[in-house]
Amino acid sequence: MNIIHISAECYPVAKVGGLADVVGALPKYQSNSTIKAQVIMPFYDNKFTQENTFSTIYESELSIGDDLYNFRILVLKEKLLDFDIFFVDVSELLFKDYVYSFNDTERFLSFQIAALDWLLTWDAYPNVIHCHDHHTGLIPFMLQESDKYEAFRKIPNVLTIHNAQYQGWFSHDKVNLIPAFNFNNVGLLDWNGQINPLAAAIKCAWGVTTVSPSYMEELKTNANGLEDLLSAESSKCFGVLNGIDWKIWNTKTDTYVKKTYTTKTIAAGKKANKKYLCDTFNLDIDKPLFAFIGRLVGEKGSDLFPEAFKNSLEKGGANILLLGSGNDEVEAELEKLKVQFEGVYNAFIGYDETLSHIIYAGADFLLMPSRVEPCGLNQMYSLRYGTIPVVRSIGGLKDTVIDISEEGGFGICHENTEVSEINTAIDRGVELYKKKTKFYKIRKQIIEIDHSWDASAQEYINLYKSIN
Ligand code: ADP
Ligand code: GLC
Repeated sequence: MNIIHISAECYPVAKVGGLADVVGALPKYQSNSTIKAQVIMPFYDNKFTQENTFSTIYESELSIGDDLYNFRILVLKEKLLDFDIFFVDVSELLFKDYVYSFNDTERFLSFQIAALDWLLTWDAYPNVIHCHDHHTGLIPFMLQESDKYEAFRKIPNVLTIHNAQYQGWFSHDKVNLIPAFNFNNVGLLDWNGQINPLAAAIKCAWGVTTVSPSYMEELKTNANGLEDLLSAESSKCFGVLNGIDWKIWNTKTDTYVKKTYTTKTIAAGKKANKKYLCDTFNLDIDKPLFAFIGRLVGEKGSDLFPEAFKNSLEKGGANILLLGSGNDEVEAELEKLKVQFEGVYNAFIGYDETLSHIIYAGADFLLMPSRVEPCGLNQMYSLRYGTIPVVRSIGGLKDTVIDISEEGGFGICHENTEVSEINTAIDRGVELYKKKTKFYKIRKQIIEIDHSWDASAQEYINLYKSIN
């Protein structure tokens, strides 16, 4: 079986969030002696593409409406990853120093067309085409409706929704940008008067997955306008919980952390990493360290952080350290808090992969008060690093974290994304930190929780077979 994943992000090439982690891991865990999983992604102007060398394996041109663009398919000269990865270089559109921006319609349309045009030249077509998020959402539609891709009509395709908040909407005025298709079915592109690539993919894909079972259920009532569509298509929709890549997120071998550790050496390992964080960010080693890592956007509840952090820090029981970037106003508010709470609070506004690993290792608690969380990888990394997750029970957080008040519980959960609930959850963490025996027991328990990819990778294979 040859599976082709098509995605805008893939770790370690280009990462904005969890999509990259998933697409950088899943193919590794799907591949075996009879299954080959490969990735097609855009060629961006970033550190990875600057630091590595590539060769061109295919060159052609594509049209988007009346405009003609040259494109190339590139491969790495050295085999750096555990799976084959192909890069679509549409230099005029895709080759930018960002992954997402305002002109994404033409950018990702060119990516999708180039990928399919190149696949048409293969001697043996793939057995499954697996699309990720709206950036590749027109592929299931084009496979089904575009004359050009008729040869692919019998190839099963799957859409994974990593985040239904973003749908790639564009105006019907731009419909001529899409390669010629059966215009009687133009309605498949539409949702609420706009071309909606995510909706088109939900309608046309043979199978649709979300990245956790709870998120699948939640989407039927809260999907940024797609609720009715997801309810109507529910018979082909499945929730498959993401895993984490234990080859990268492993406390024994992690080259980013200040001290590696095992279940046996967790106390010393976490202490050394916490000390590094406290020294570097001027925090109090004796107080529990609550951390947040992520995008500062409404979905993560970040607009509530300034007030929630202030309330908790005023009580004096906790340190808080934040790593993230996003909304300008939130960033500015978070910066301001540094003066008032010097010695117990700090924020690194930006993106830093190395620091994120040290924080997972050195923090005592990880905060995730998300309004929307399709899966969330951070809580799984934090579990794996012995850091207790403090989460709002939603989406994948609900599926992976059990409150300490329940049988076998190991995390701190709250019902709503509200300041008062975040504060109560932090208070509970502060209290748990004081009960050292229980606190250490939970740390040893969570580091052993199995969220590796093996089971979920197999679930996807079963899905491909079932829709074949
Ligand atoms: P999402 O994809 O919604 O942003 P996930 O929890 O699935 O959320 O994944 C986020 C990924 O991005 C994790 O690997 C996390 O460590 C990483 N990440 C997010 N923000 C930052 C940052 N500022 N610096 C480093 N890593 C980050
Ligand atoms: C999205 C979601 C996140 C999920 C990730 C990987 O970015 O916001 O919850 O973990 O995709 O599937």
